[in-house]
Amino acid sequence: MLVAPSMLASDFSHLADELKKITDGGADFVHLDVMDGAFVPNISFGAPVIAAMRPHTTLPFDVHLMIQHPKRYIADFVAAGADIISFHVECADDPDEVIAEILTHGAHPAMVIKPKTPAELIFPYLDKLYLVLIMTVEPGFGGQSFMSGPLLKARQLKEKNPSVLIEADGGINAQTVLECARAGVDVCVAGTGVFKAEDPAAAIRQLQSAGC
Ligand code: DX5
Ligand code: ZN
Repeated sequence: MLVAPSMLASDFSHLADELKKITDGGADFVHLDVMDGAFVPNISFGAPVIAAMRPHTTLPFDVHLMIQHPKRYIADFVAAGADIISFHVECADDPDEVIAEILTHGAHPAMVIKPKTPAELIFPYLDKLYLVLIMTVEPGFGGQSFMSGPLLKARQLKEKNPSVLIEADGGINAQTVLECARAGVDVCVAGTGVFKAEDPAAAIRQLQSAGC
């Protein structure tokens, strides 16, 4: 299992130290939750903060856009250092246009589905995607309880495109990661599960060993 610690649960007053902690701890990606206060009822951080984090790690930046109109901000996020950009199928833009914009700027396109959104909505775009992110909580806040129902979408998506990476996000810890691994998830996001752990490096290693 690949592990993408979510910076949303880190100490924002020490971002460089927090990045070093997960880089030295062997994380695979850095998950960056961008919230606009419109698509979700919470505001987090945007491209300038991501750009400030970029020099402090060589890990790929996995940017999760929880924003209403992602297309107009893609260039900014790629310039800030995003490697993977995921946007919600439920956003207000045409997914084909957002994917094209991400590809034009040289990042990997990814799409996200909320817990109650059917996987079928992603099918038309699946062949163009590097990764699909399945939400296992309602987007907007860290520290919520994991829901296992959405994981059924992992197999549906893999059947249609066996090479797409499947990522799960929300409430993932040493216990719930086992369900993710059984469901065929390749990458797990963990905010609370890594940054609030007594030993974040050990927490990363434990999550990585799920399904091996
Ligand atoms: C929720 C975010 C998640 C969140 C995960 O909207 O997309 O990435 O930070 O946090 P935990 O692991 O604490 O549920
Ligand atoms: Zn996220």
